[in-house]
Amino acid sequence: MTITNHTPATAPSVPDGVVLEADGLTKHFPVPKRGRALLSRTPSVVHAVDDVTLTLRRGRVTALVGESGSGKSTVARLLAQLYPRTGGDIRLHGASTAVRGGRAFRRYARKVQMIFQDPFGSLNPVHTVRYHLSRALKVHGRAGSGKDGLEAALQELLGRVHLTPADNYLDKYPHELSGGQRQRVAIARALAADPDALLADEPVSMLDVSIRLGILNLLRDLKERLDLAILYITHDIASARYFADETMVMYAGRMVEGGDSETVTQAPAHPYTRLLISSAPDPDHIGTADREPGTGGAGDGEEEDGGEPPSLIVPPAGCRFNPRCPMAMERCRVELPPRIEIGDAPGHWAACWLYDEETAK
Ligand SMILES: Nc1ncnc2c1ncn2[C@@H]1O[C@H](COP(=O)(O)OP(=O)(O)OP(=O)(O)O)[C@@H](O)[C@H]1O
Ligand code: SF4
Ligand SMILES: [Mg+2]
Repeated sequence: MTITNHTPATAPSVPDGVVLEADGLTKHFPVPKRGRALLSRTPSVVHAVDDVTLTLRRGRVTALVGESGSGKSTVARLLAQLYPRTGGDIRLHGASTAVRGGRAFRRYARKVQMIFQDPFGSLNPVHTVRYHLSRALKVHGRAGSGKDGLEAALQELLGRVHLTPADNYLDKYPHELSGGQRQRVAIARALAADPDALLADEPVSMLDVSIRLGILNLLRDLKERLDLAILYITHDIASARYFADETMVMYAGRMVEGGDSETVTQAPAHPYTRLLISSAPDPDHIGTADREPGTGGAGDGEEEDGGEPPSLIVPPAGCRFNPRCPMAMERCRVELPPRIEIGDAPGHWAACWLYDEETAK
């Protein structure tokens, strides 16, 4: 039950607005050995996340997009310190941080909160909205003083997520609310900590299409009013364009492209991003692609064309996309492509040999 703050003697110098940074973040899950693998001394692992680097900034939404199994939720859980990491670093306000539960975890969670895909699953059916929110306020020391203080804090929280008048909702149980209202309560509970960063793992994918936009607009409003840094995880690259300032694309545990959302979605550089966009439905229908994983939605790993994602136990050598890539060259099967600046917009990069000067010659 410790928090390791490898904080330097002097306060770290953090670029303006930077809240949370992942640097070379890596997570390998051990898998039980079967068959011939039992004879090998090398442990079998799922390479769920390899060498992921990203930065969340105040007042900005960063989208993390990719098909099912690409490692998006694992990145969010690592950033929330729900899993120990295999390698790399996580810095909160510049200080390298590794949390192992208990009080240290609560201290971290005061700054970094997570919102899950299924608001029904994340709320306890036997407790009311009042119970969920009061408990969160008390855990984070924000319940005010006395009964009146707590009541005022509850009213303010529900007001922030536009569930007003609050008295209509406080004594309701989760099953008495609609899916959208439940997700608003889950967001209010996250806000009870007064966090600096929100990690939203597919926050609208289980909601009715008609209410998705309302929840995304609420998150955008909170980003602006509370100056929050938001990580928005989605299968739906069209909603990333609408909602996120920056978009990062993940494939088979690795980041393959990043930049401002307009550039990544309108001028995608990586062949995988192009495949994602070509298989996404009409971008005017925000959120309709973000179905439950495994239900055949665009980009959920069951595309009719473009092939299958690779094994993460023995990932392909070189570029992990090479078995599916129509542009693959010999070196793609051997050498891992680094991040290469594309040059069409500031900060736009792709991990693809097509953009290497040597390839261009
Ligand atoms: N606890 C675990 N133990 C073993 N393997 C895991 C574990 N959690 C995730 N994985 C594996 O890690 C890989 C990445 O999973 P992850 O859930 O992060 O993907 P995702 O991009 O969030 O997918 P989805 O879009 O379906 O939610 C997958 O191959 C998954 O099977
Ligand atoms: S590095 Fe090669 S295989 Fe990978 S996306 Fe680029 S061209 Fe395709
Ligand atoms: Mg996931």
